[in-house]
Amino acid sequence: MHIAIIMDGNGRWATRRGRARTVGHREGAKAVRKIVESARRLEIDILTLYAFSSNNWGRPRSEVDALLHLLQRYLISETRRCAAQSIRIKVIGRRDRLSRSLMRTIEQTEEATASCNRLNLRIAVDYSARQSIAAAAQILQRSPDNDQAAFSNALGCAIHSANGSPSVDLLIRTGGEKRLSDFLLWECAYAELSFTDCLWPDFDETAFEAALEDYRHRNRRFGRLAAGAV
Ligand code: FPP
Repeated sequence: MHIAIIMDGNGRWATRRGRARTVGHREGAKAVRKIVESARRLEIDILTLYAFSSNNWGRPRSEVDALLHLLQRYLISETRRCAAQSIRIKVIGRRDRLSRSLMRTIEQTEEATASCNRLNLRIAVDYSARQSIAAAAQILQRSPDNDQAAFSNALGCAIHSANGSPSVDLLIRTGGEKRLSDFLLWECAYAELSFTDCLWPDFDETAFEAALEDYRHRNRRFGRLAAGAV
């Protein structure tokens, strides 16, 4: 099972409390820790989190710096814990615009958790689905294969994803908005969508389990008829 999450609402969470938006991002990082632990406990195979979109570069420099710094600190502090719990961490997205220091941290984290196989945690950083699809199309131009599987592989290469571009089963978006915001557009072709008003820092294990419980009652047909239908 592959769950993807658009973690929205950090800024509003902080603003409502009269705090700086970056405080909301810090609380958001705490929620990430809890949800990753829940995902492992619930035996989810892949969890993909949208941490920093390519369009987020357009935010004020101070917020961009704070977000990337927070991400680096998260990777440094969680690597050992994730390795001990057999959680593999991969960062997906573009790499050419990240600082050398962050790149080094990403590489160290990925290396330290490379043999873990209990939960595949993918963190999307400088990620844009449209850019990835365009990059995959360029890769395919140089290849004789052009079927869906080949495209999927090319897409995986374009975003540094070790396991290609696995289909998403459930996409959760917190924060009340109902859109995909350029996240995993190819992978979400048949994803079930779950939108909640809950702001990301408040999204806890109970809310996560509720989204999963709702998902279990969905009737996934992939364009076919329901079982037993004439
Ligand atoms: C959207 O909320 C959230 C982000 C742009 C960043 C998400 C980052 C984290 C949850 C923390 C760091 C991540 C990891 C993996 C440690 P927003 O700022 O757009 O909120 P708003 O819609 O209320 O303004």
